[in-house]
Amino acid sequence: MEFSTRAIHSGWDPDKQTGAVMPPIYMTSTFALNSPGHSRGYDYTRANNPNFVILEKTLAALENASYATVFSSGISALMGMISTLSTGDKVVALDGIYGGTYRLFTKVMSRFGIHFEILYDTSYESIENALKSKPKWLIFETPTNPLLRLFDIEIISSIAKKYGVLTIVDNTFASPYCQNPFNFGADIVWHSTTKYIGGHSDVIGGVVMTQSAPFKKELDFARKTLGGNPSPFDCWLITRGVKTLSVRMQQHEKNARAVAHYLEKHPKVKVVHYPGLPSHQDHSLAGKQMKALNGMLSAEFHLSLEDTLAMISSFKLFTLAESLGGVESLICHPVTMTHAIIPPEERKKLGLNDGLVRFSIGIEDSKDLIEDLDQILAKF
Ligand SMILES: Cc1ncc(COP(=O)(O)O)c(C=O)c1O
Repeated sequence: MEFSTRAIHSGWDPDKQTGAVMPPIYMTSTFALNSPGHSRGYDYTRANNPNFVILEKTLAALENASYATVFSSGISALMGMISTLSTGDKVVALDGIYGGTYRLFTKVMSRFGIHFEILYDTSYESIENALKSKPKWLIFETPTNPLLRLFDIEIISSIAKKYGVLTIVDNTFASPYCQNPFNFGADIVWHSTTKYIGGHSDVIGGVVMTQSAPFKKELDFARKTLGGNPSPFDCWLITRGVKTLSVRMQQHEKNARAVAHYLEKHPKVKVVHYPGLPSHQDHSLAGKQMKALNGMLSAEFHLSLEDTLAMISSFKLFTLAESLGGVESLICHPVTMTHAIIPPEERKKLGLNDGLVRFSIGIEDSKDLIEDLDQILAKF
């Protein structure tokens, strides 16, 4: 089945008993047992719940995965994976990973003896050198946040395989509609389902996907043992949200393209970071590994820090907020918000300048979005 059909029909058939076309919400903490030690598949919602399973089947079908395990947040999904590591294990990450991923490894897991190295030089030579130290995992995101650089999943996975290192891709930014890392050799794919998959900025969730039955078992064990279970209602919201992923992503892309073209021609804009523009360094890689583009872009303005902050607080339709992937357009300032944890000199080296603004373009009408931008930019 094609993607849009899978998004609607995987994971649930109309209920045999009641005929309910859409799944009910199983808001129960516990389940009646048939007899001591014999359940009907569920015993306690920290361990499992029908709403988890419905969502897991749908997400696995969309990501071409054999198995999925849902968690209470993207970070909880990462924590579930990390709990399969042991003291002394090492993880190598490529520059551009989510700040919360960096924070979990450097501020918490370091105290438990998990070694973490971030590669700012992401050339294939540098990656190969880092993998010679035999880390357990190589983790990265593509497109990256906030500069929308891409990594070639196929090449990087094949380097990692040479050294027996697992390739783990955070596919949150792309969504399974735009990119399926398993098709390019990734071993594990995870998402914050809070973003495009949920799609409505009304729920927090996460998922880890794998082709390995033993790893799926470890993830389910981790969820139960660490208490990283989502709420059945949150899973129901995400199940409902993901049904419209295809149509939402098409509109996100259409709008982002229109905004990128508008910004590229604007005299107050220094550079637009959007892989759909031929001027973007990774434009051709986008064509190779992405089926479509998302609604994310960033732009650097010829403005001081003060003016940039004043500008991003002035829009009518772009809400100043963290997060991304919802139906509504959001704007954020990486230097003072998502990337404030990075020291200023490091930020400069990475190209995270004071005039840089990140946009999560929603599914409104692009004419209105551009009009809002036009009116506010004229004042600065
Ligand atoms: C790329 C990426 N990965 C992971 C996360 C963490 O997800 P959550 O906020 O659902 O815990 C985020 C959150 O912003 C993210 O942007």
